[in-house]
This record gives sequence, structure tokens and C-alpha cells, in this order.
Amino acid sequence: MEQINRSQKMQDFARKSRHGGKSIALVPTMGFLHEGHLELMRRARKNADLVVVSIFVNPIQFGPGEDLDRYPRDLEGDLDKCKKVGVDVVFTPTPEDLYPEHFQTSVAVSEITKVLCGASRPGHFQGVTTVVAKLFNITLPDFAFFGEKDFQQLAVIRRMVIDLNFPLKIIGVPIVREKDGLAMSSRNAYLSDKERAAAPELYKALTCARELFAQGCKDCEKLCRAVSEQLDKNIETDFKIEYIEIYDSSNLTVLEGTITTAATILIAAHFGKTRLIDNLQL
Ligand code: PAF
Repeated sequence: MEQINRSQKMQDFARKSRHGGKSIALVPTMGFLHEGHLELMRRARKNADLVVVSIFVNPIQFGPGEDLDRYPRDLEGDLDKCKKVGVDVVFTPTPEDLYPEHFQTSVAVSEITKVLCGASRPGHFQGVTTVVAKLFNITLPDFAFFGEKDFQQLAVIRRMVIDLNFPLKIIGVPIVREKDGLAMSSRNAYLSDKERAAAPELYKALTCARELFAQGCKDCEKLCRAVSEQLDKNIETDFKIEYIEIYDSSNLTVLEGTITTAATILIAAHFGKTRLIDNLQL
């Protein structure tokens, strides 16, 4: 496994590999890798000749007062994990390499970034699409893999790829969960013992909505209310719901009234200072 930390070198490597007839799969990450990331890498391994994993805590997708400074990092551990799943190249650029002096260009998806997480994190998705567009141009992938936990991020990236004609295929990979149902996330490391014990309630409440849906309840408001009531009843620690909403799974438009299409219920909630998201296809 090779580690490359300059974008120029990474792009040269990718160009040569593609000229040599090799296909490339990219797994973009911010590091502190967990089983969810490893699953993306395993899928990538099956799809392409070369697997490139990028590890970069992208400063421009964090808002003021967010967790950029305390975002968990463990490069040595990450490299070890990448090696074990058969990654070919780990791309570890510095902020100065990706955002040199006078950098002033960004990529923005305008509409579907205004809702859900975008409503409380202005500029976040613009930071994501800008860095992901750069990573695509640097690593020249045929395929890029993203987790479905970040449901909105995946929809935003798919939109960008279509709108800007990026010549690659985006592959979404189902959420990997802990045994108790908590969706794996690097941010789970922030949770206190009490918060960690309460956090699986998110998944339990979403599952309860799915059961109600299967029993015939198709009303968005009732389903969302059932989730919030269950959370209020079962969580005793410092906890606040940011949103519970139901969206069309295929195009990220909000659903109201009766559900007549494939739908996903999404939640964001704060356990103390930690913001967690999760979603479930109804
Ligand atoms: O999902 C993430 O870890 C990040 O948002 C991504 C896609 C690597 C961009 O920084």
C-alpha cells in the first residue's frame, strides 16, 4: 500500500493507472475509520482494479463553533485498517495542498442543500461538494463510494455528478450499525457513557416508525410524531431533536400528508454537544 500526500503526485499516479487500463475506486473519508468505512472499502475492492482512500478532515465543511478542532484523528490506526482491507493508495493531503493561498473557487448545489442538515449547517454542503469535486479531479475515479448514513450528502453528491457531468459512478452503501443499532460514525467517539447508552434509541424509534408504516399508517405527521414521542419517553439524558422528517427516497423532496412513494425517514439529534444523524427507508 502506498501513501501519497501531494495532489499533483496523486493525480499523476491516477492518470498513469488509467492510461494503463486500470479502473479506480475512490472512498473519500475524514479518517478515524470504523467498520462503516471499511465496508465502503470492501465494496470498492470488488469493483475496481485500484482502491484509493482519501483521508482529509476538510476544514471548509465545518461551520464556526463546530467540531473541526476536536474531530477525532488516528492516522496510524487508519493506515493499518486500510492495509488490512487491501487498499492500494491512501491519499492524505494537507489543507495547504488542497487549499493553497488565493484559493477562491467552490462548487454549490443550490436547492437540496437548504433543508435537513443544510438548514442548521449553512455552508456545510458547499464545503463537501467543493472538496469532493477536487478529490474526483485528483484521483480520477471510475467509481466513488459513500455511506447511506449521510443520506442528504449522498443525494447532494449524486446531483453534483449529474449536473457537472463527472464521468464516474456514485455507489451508496447501506448503513453499518453497532450491535445495539447505533449507526456507526466517527462522532460516536464523543458520546459520554450515558449518551452512548441512550443513542441507540434513535434507531429504535425509526424502526418503530417503519413498523407503523408496515401496519398501514402512511401519514407523515403521525409517523414523525410517533418517533419523537418514543424518544422523549425513552431518553433521560441531555437530548434535543433537531429534525424528524420524511423525504422521497429517490430525489430528496420532502413528503407531507399521505406517503405514496418510496420514502425515507430522517433524524438529526443532539446528545449533549454531539450531533448524530440516522435514517431508515420506510
Ligand atoms: O462523509 C465524509 O466523511 C465527508 O463529508 C467527505 C465526503 C469525506 C468529504 O469531506
